[in-house]
Amino acid sequence: MKISARRGVLVVLIFSLCFLPLKDSLAQIYDYERMSHAIVNMLNVATNFVAENIDVINTHNAKLGEPIPRDQPYSYKGINPEGFATLIGKEFTLRTGILIKFVSTGKGKLGPRNKYNVPDDWEKDQMLKFADIRYPRGVGYGEVQKVGATYRLVYRYIYPLYIEPSCLKCHGDPSTSPTKDGKDITGHFMEDYRLGELRGTISLTFPIE
Ligand code: HEC
Repeated sequence: MKISARRGVLVVLIFSLCFLPLKDSLAQIYDYERMSHAIVNMLNVATNFVAENIDVINTHNAKLGEPIPRDQPYSYKGINPEGFATLIGKEFTLRTGILIKFVSTGKGKLGPRNKYNVPDDWEKDQMLKFADIRYPRGVGYGEVQKVGATYRLVYRYIYPLYIEPSCLKCHGDPSTSPTKDGKDITGHFMEDYRLGELRGTISLTFPIE
């Protein structure tokens, strides 16, 4: 091999070695993004399932897939869609180290229903972007961040949740309150959300080893 050709090979080799870690970390970020997408979709399906079947859960003798019996007693069993998904999220965090939260600034003076769901500054900023009419619907956003005094690396992903017809029973118009006091069946004040409005987000944090 001529000297100039050898030099060329050497330059290409050094160049590839320099960019190999970058390629690796880009692949890792792509993996986190794909994993996030799968997790948020799974949680979204679980939340919607509970919301859509809330009357089956709370009506005595009701069965999945059958009409709700009209003459049976109805009582709230303490299972709400987001509460259920948050419980799954907490258990998932214990097993995997991946933090799952359902965060929201809430609506107007009412704020979020549960203090645990108060968003941090980054989550608040992303929610403002999601609420912008020009932001594409149903698209999540992720990035690598340095956190804490040790500048530990984490990958954070956030995904918008919108009001579906099944959410209105609890988060909708307070004049439809079943107890006629503006509260839903869980005893919380109904926030007057409208169909399609941004209700909150699913927020994930992956520790990066
Ligand atoms: C049976 C009533 C009920 C229905 C139906 C319902 N929710 Fe909720 N939602 C609640 C309650 C109660 C909480 C507070 C739970 C807690 O203590 O963590 C809550 C909290 C939330 C939160 C967390 C923010 C906060 O305010 O604390 C989000 C996000 C949310 N709901 C989204 C939805 C969406 C989206 C739907 C429809 C797919 C829905 N909910 C349907 C009762 C309901």
